[in-house]
Amino acid sequence: MPARKAACVIGWPIGHSRSPLIHNYWIKLHGLDAEYRREAVSPEHFSDFITHLVERGYVGANVTVPHKETALAMSEPDDRARAVGAANTLWLDGGRLRSTNTDVEGFIGNLDATAPGWDRGLRCAFVLGAGGAARAVLFGLLERGVGRILLANRTAERAAALRTQFGDRVQPVRWGDLDALMPEAGLLVNTTSLGMAGQPPLTIDISHLPANAVVNDLVYVPLETALLAAARSRGLRTVDGLGMLLHQAVGGFERWFGMRPQVTEALRALVEADLISKKS
Ligand code: ATR
Repeated sequence: MPARKAACVIGWPIGHSRSPLIHNYWIKLHGLDAEYRREAVSPEHFSDFITHLVERGYVGANVTVPHKETALAMSEPDDRARAVGAANTLWLDGGRLRSTNTDVEGFIGNLDATAPGWDRGLRCAFVLGAGGAARAVLFGLLERGVGRILLANRTAERAAALRTQFGDRVQPVRWGDLDALMPEAGLLVNTTSLGMAGQPPLTIDISHLPANAVVNDLVYVPLETALLAAARSRGLRTVDGLGMLLHQAVGGFERWFGMRPQVTEALRALVEADLISKKS
């Protein structure tokens, strides 16, 4: 009989991760002889942990804060992980430790599932923020063929650096010019932490977004952010951040356990209930 397969999520701290809830739900649903665990690993022990992943009984792992950059450096990354500058999913391929960043497919998969046709005729997207999450979003939008992406960030130099990295289709704009540019955007994505519980609010005026625009907030605590509430009250299509969290889990599961799981309403309800009960 083949040995029981195991994967884990590695972070420091790791208590808040929803990945065990998601993967163990799929494992149970499909009756697999497998297990997904939490591993609290400090920065000084991370390299040793990864080097001995097989001896520890793992076929792969998710990696979260603060290890994603080290995971990239210690593995063979694909284009996505390289472009994002961080690896969140590792798997063993023969003797090789390979990696990707599933935030890219999580972002796109969530949009496809929640706002089908979001990219039909889309000429211009608006992205707020220029951190790691923004890099995953830019990679996904460019790969999907979006012609022009306006990028606003508090620190202008970080937005300018992303233009250098991703090319001229990414156009940095000043935060102060946001309102005037709204009518151009068919998609608005917030990748900043603004609007997250415990963080300052995101104060932008979306009243001039086109009526067919889609608004996507990557923040998922709270589930309905002030940005999404404002979009909904305007009758715009909204996409929340929890969907991205669920969709980004698909690629790891498929690589480790050999089957592609579905993001369903039942899974969403399970994670939503956990978010509500823990309020973080
Ligand atoms: P992540 O990897 O989740 O994207 P990050 O790299 O720390 O995290 O990026 C956080 C993003 O939120 C950045 O765009 C950051 O803006 P700066 O580049 O100017 O730091 C943005 N952000 C965080 N707090 C902010 C605030 N109070 N006002 C405006 N932007 C903020």
